[in-house]
Amino acid sequence: MAPLTAEGFQWQKLTQTWRLGKEDRLDTVNVDASRALVKEVHNLVPFDRASFVHDIGTGSGAVVAELIDYCGSQIPSEARILATDVFPLMLDEIKERQRLRLSEGNKLWEKVEIQEMNAEEMNGIEDNLTSHLLAGYLMYALSDYKKMLSEVKRTLAPDGVFGYSVNIAYPWVTISGLISKVRPDKTAPYPPALWHTAESNTKVMEESGFKDVKATEVDLHVSYDSHEGMVDYLMDVLPFMPMLLEGLTEEETGEYRDLMIEQLKKESPSLPGKMVGKGLIVTGRK
Ligand SMILES: C[S@@+](CC[C@H](N)C(=O)[O-])C[C@H]1O[C@@H](n2cnc3c(N)ncnc32)[C@H](O)[C@@H]1O
Repeated sequence: MAPLTAEGFQWQKLTQTWRLGKEDRLDTVNVDASRALVKEVHNLVPFDRASFVHDIGTGSGAVVAELIDYCGSQIPSEARILATDVFPLMLDEIKERQRLRLSEGNKLWEKVEIQEMNAEEMNGIEDNLTSHLLAGYLMYALSDYKKMLSEVKRTLAPDGVFGYSVNIAYPWVTISGLISKVRPDKTAPYPPALWHTAESNTKVMEESGFKDVKATEVDLHVSYDSHEGMVDYLMDVLPFMPMLLEGLTEEETGEYRDLMIEQLKKESPSLPGKMVGKGLIVTGRK
């Protein structure tokens, strides 16, 4: 099974979903998971005690946006907020979000520093410095998560808090697996089992030496008003769809679409329809 971040995935459409906010169906998931991440981290070490908040793998800045909306006013004025990502194209998205929020008068965004950085080698960040480290949906994107966790440990201040999110059930991705009914040679990607349960995530954190580890499930909803419309949307925005659809005949593509529509109708016969997934927010202290 291909990792969810395999090369050739086309992230651009999904990355830009924030531009429409919750009006874009899959943005609801990012907003809900990011908000839950910020809240859980805040519960462990409140942001009014922050000296340096670092969001790694920031992408379009979904986590930073929730941080600012929910806890921004509590963050001390001298504290730093740093958002980093290894891909410059992703940083263009958070830069655009910052530009828009500033133009709307949200001055807290002035505090957000944006830098290119590999979370597996946080060069330039001193040891024992960061009070709050956040990683939204980054785990499956890494080539070596242990390297990242060791960098998290190195850069966190004593008693600093680390929190990350993963999805443990996401029907909007699982449904794409129907491809193998049409073309048995193709499989839809899914994240490695390591990230699928509260137990395995807790073990990863404890084995890396974090204390007070907590894994909290969060419900994630995607709603839609037409079964056909939802399937067409997923076929358009899921980053690995171009790879799955490559080489399919028109007939096979139609058959795949019909199978997904049939499945959605089974799961949610009435409209508006709902896909219910589950995220996991994992937090721990150094
Ligand atoms: C699925 S996105 C999540 C974005 C955002 N944090 C959120 O919660 O919506 C994963 C992000 O991790 C970034 N990424 C992948 N590998 C990385 C690495 N080694 N260091 C830093 N960022 C990385 C990708 O560029 C992408 O923006």
